[in-house]
Amino acid sequence: MGARHAGRPPPIGAMLIRSPVANAALPAPEAEALACSDALSRHIADEIAGTGGWIGFDRFMERALYTPAMGYYAGGARKFGAAGDFVTAPELCAAFGQTLAAQVAQLLALSAPRIIEVGAGSGQLAVDLLGELERRGALPDSYAILELSGELRARQGEKLAARAPHLLPRVSWLERLPTHFDGVVLANEVLDAMPVGLVVWHGDDIAERGVAVDDGRFVWRERPATGALLAKARAVAADRELPPGYLSEIPLAASAWIAEWAAVLGRGALLLIDYGFPRREFYHPQRHAGTLMCHYRHHAHGEPFYLPGLQDITAHVDFTAIVESACGAGLELLGYATQANFLFNCGLTEVLARTPTDDPRSYLALAGAAQKLISPAEMGELFKVMALGKGIAEPLLGFAVGDRSVTL
Ligand SMILES: C[S@@+](CC[C@H](N)C(=O)[O-])C[C@H]1O[C@@H](n2cnc3c(N)ncnc32)[C@H](O)[C@@H]1O
Repeated sequence: MGARHAGRPPPIGAMLIRSPVANAALPAPEAEALACSDALSRHIADEIAGTGGWIGFDRFMERALYTPAMGYYAGGARKFGAAGDFVTAPELCAAFGQTLAAQVAQLLALSAPRIIEVGAGSGQLAVDLLGELERRGALPDSYAILELSGELRARQGEKLAARAPHLLPRVSWLERLPTHFDGVVLANEVLDAMPVGLVVWHGDDIAERGVAVDDGRFVWRERPATGALLAKARAVAADRELPPGYLSEIPLAASAWIAEWAAVLGRGALLLIDYGFPRREFYHPQRHAGTLMCHYRHHAHGEPFYLPGLQDITAHVDFTAIVESACGAGLELLGYATQANFLFNCGLTEVLARTPTDDPRSYLALAGAAQKLISPAEMGELFKVMALGKGIAEPLLGFAVGDRSVTL
């Protein structure tokens, strides 16, 4: 693939050659989207040039996803649902949010009647959760959405206005963490979207894999790891034998973010739902190429340099790193379970049982979606729910059966 403006050569440094994706017949983006991606690529390339020819991968990921107006989550890409790039649990069926409501209601009663949802996507979880809390007579006084993307804030507002207009007065939007909060914090598939450092272990030598530009392309370049990344990479290697050349991620941003919440939370809990493993499984010798994954129009692939700004870039979550950061900063681990166990504990079966069966088509669609949420071959085992909190003395109902905290 080459420059698109045939006939007149672009000024040096102004055009990057787009990275192809091996073995994937991906749908072509529209011209306007392609132009946005080119602009973001140039923006990142300029930053690389301005910082000595190299940036860490965490910085590349941060720019690709969150550069104002151009990054994947900050720009206009459709992202969620069938017309987007991937489907999350709230987009699969209302039963996800309705079931989660049981755990949220218990936590609201134990802390304060306030919810913050972080990275609320299309707003679907807010609609389903608030609807069910209303049905239970357990509505919070306030539901704040902490959202980095102006475009998503607008989409969430529209959905709430269309689906639950009477609840809108309780809903507000935040651009940053509050200075103090009592209540429940929800984050579904947020940790996996936070920038990760990339590390290669070569025996005692530990390198950071970063990004440079060579011959008009983004390319991988390694440098000796330093600072916090090196310290965390050494700690990972201290407890296990990693084969030479082993590549994986270190969740620097997610660990820092959890510590920020620990400083903000007075009484309450964070409910984190995401795909990932305890450290022992995360850095398994056979997982030697890490967990980095990109999503573009329902195709998953491993090329983060492909169409920056038009595709999602994610990494699985090392839940041991999350709990270490949380407990080091004053939070307590309240529970850790597979999504399947958590949803059963919270009454998924009862939620499904109250769905009318007189419309077989919609009932079958719901049954299929619920199956995806709980099947070990789909989201049931890979996705975990972790609760971290302060001042919560009662056992949480979502972890009553199958709590796996000891595996962390
Ligand atoms: C994969 S999407 C999930 C969206 C939604 N929760 C869902 O389940 O459909 C990840 C979301 O996390 C948000 N996000 C990532 N880091 C964030 C941060 N530090 N603060 C707030 N939102 C963040 C992104 O902007 C994006 O909206």
